[in-house]
Amino acid sequence: MNASLHDYMASKKVWLEEKLPDFLEQASIPGKLKESMIYSLMAGGKRIRPILLFATLDALGCREEKGLSTAIGLEMIHTYSLIHDDLPAMDNDDLRRGKPTNHVIFGEATAVLAGDGLLTAAFDLVAGDPALNAEIRCRILQMLANAAGPEGMVGGQEDDLEAEEKTLTIDELMSVHRRKTGRLICFPVAAAAVIAGAPEHQRRALEQYAGHLGLAFQIGDDILDISGSEQELGKPVGSDLVNHKNTYVSLLTMEGARKKLEDHVASAKKALRESGIHYGVLSDLADYLQTRTH
Ligand code: IPE
Ligand code: IPE
Ligand code: MG
Ligand code: MG
Ligand code: MG
Repeated sequence: MNASLHDYMASKKVWLEEKLPDFLEQASIPGKLKESMIYSLMAGGKRIRPILLFATLDALGCREEKGLSTAIGLEMIHTYSLIHDDLPAMDNDDLRRGKPTNHVIFGEATAVLAGDGLLTAAFDLVAGDPALNAEIRCRILQMLANAAGPEGMVGGQEDDLEAEEKTLTIDELMSVHRRKTGRLICFPVAAAAVIAGAPEHQRRALEQYAGHLGLAFQIGDDILDISGSEQELGKPVGSDLVNHKNTYVSLLTMEGARKKLEDHVASAKKALRESGIHYGVLSDLADYLQTRTH
């Protein structure tokens, strides 16, 4: 990764993590449930979705503070998706972000509720965000609900489970990836454009950029599930094989998957150039998806 992107990501991660648990810490939540929610939220993670939100706000000349609650809500929802994804009924994984998964520590029932709690608390937080006016807040809430819900991530997770019994075409797999991962990667870019009041043509170009990023991100995840190291990833390798998942690697071979990843990174950067937004970090973030090792 290029050195300046490394520093940029590290500083945004520190800034976010200082404030990430505040809302939950201050809330009145039963002890074990609160502990389990904060355990997974603070266990680590790249924080790539909040970083995309901050970087897009930077690119559009808007203060990052305006997007802070949205970024925290998004990371809470992403964390919930990971807790549920790891449950025995889903991917049945016991390591996440370098630590035992939520259900291993707190039990399945509390892990289900920790996910439910993170999801709903995220909407509570964003709905009460004083940094955004009521109209923008309402738009952001609807965009977030749509990206995370049955038309978005939740729907993609169901598609992903159903596909365990069959072999998909590459177009079908792309559609699964677009929902299960793509929508929560697109959301921060689209949300930043709304918060910053970007003009329609820029919003559309940024959404194109983020659509390709979302696919590139999950293709990278599929590749790392085979070629990554458990130590670096902080989650098990080989989980997809055990669960009979359709992945870019299973359908296209490792070389074919790498080529698709490259294509989506190139398309993301092209969309960015066409947007007229000249901001190196967004382009570097696309390149990073091609070289990341965790
Ligand atoms: C993992 O997401 C799940 C996918 C959608 C592929 P990340 O790779 O962003 O996980 P963390 O947040 O860094 O742990
Ligand atoms: C899950 O995809 C995407 C989510 C919505 C959580 P994976 O099942 O491939 O994610 P990992 O590899 O467990 O992080
Ligand atoms: Mg999964
Ligand atoms: Mg999984
Ligand atoms: Mg995976």
